[in-house]
Amino acid sequence: MERLQKLIAQSGYCSRRKAEEEIQKGHVTVNGEIVREMGVQVSSSDQVMINGILLKKEEKEYILLNKPRGVVTTTSDDKHRKTVLDLIDTNKRLYPVGRLDYDTTGILLLTNDGELSNLMMHPKNQIDKVYIAKVDGILTGEAINSLKKGIVLDGKKTAPAKVKIRKKDLKKKTCMVELTIHEGRNHQVKRMFEAVGYRVEKLKRERISFLDLKGLNSGEYRYLNPKEVKKLYFELQKND
Ligand code: URA
Repeated sequence: MERLQKLIAQSGYCSRRKAEEEIQKGHVTVNGEIVREMGVQVSSSDQVMINGILLKKEEKEYILLNKPRGVVTTTSDDKHRKTVLDLIDTNKRLYPVGRLDYDTTGILLLTNDGELSNLMMHPKNQIDKVYIAKVDGILTGEAINSLKKGIVLDGKKTAPAKVKIRKKDLKKKTCMVELTIHEGRNHQVKRMFEAVGYRVEKLKRERISFLDLKGLNSGEYRYLNPKEVKKLYFELQKND
């Protein structure tokens, strides 16, 4: 579901502000009924007309990108840094689902499917995200238990996580840790490690639910196939 004015803007018909004006003037119908209220929720199966013209439905596109380091996960950047959209050749208005930090690499989904995006971001839909963190130290059993149980960040405990040590370098005193979480709070992984006394030197997201980076080198992307999109919706809705 999407707000009516957003759906109109996403179709490329006009800007969101212009769409709001058209709605207020009574120029917009949804399934044949004039809608003057703002924020009415519509889905892609609703028939929307503006000034008697049927709104074209933008085809949905789903892209899986292997984000490199040094790229921002926004659609534009005021510091003129490279954005994830600069890596993708599309004429659709895609936006990233969630964020990876400038220096974080790995799997990122981009889409123009607002419904899927909202479902993925909703905390009740517990989609696993698997991160590999290189940390500056050898994680103690105590730290592992704290990460597993949850860490208080901004006054709220993180949900239980899965923690696995993948590799230890006793000489360099670093280790590679696999952390599986399903929330997506700001800088969550780095802050969780920081809270137990470790600094994340490198961070990569390896998996989102069943989607991984197989076949994608850094900076490369591929389209999801319809079966994968269906499976993703299934995974997201199974907790309903
Ligand atoms: N957690 C972080 O700290 N950074 C990311 O980029 C993603 C999750």
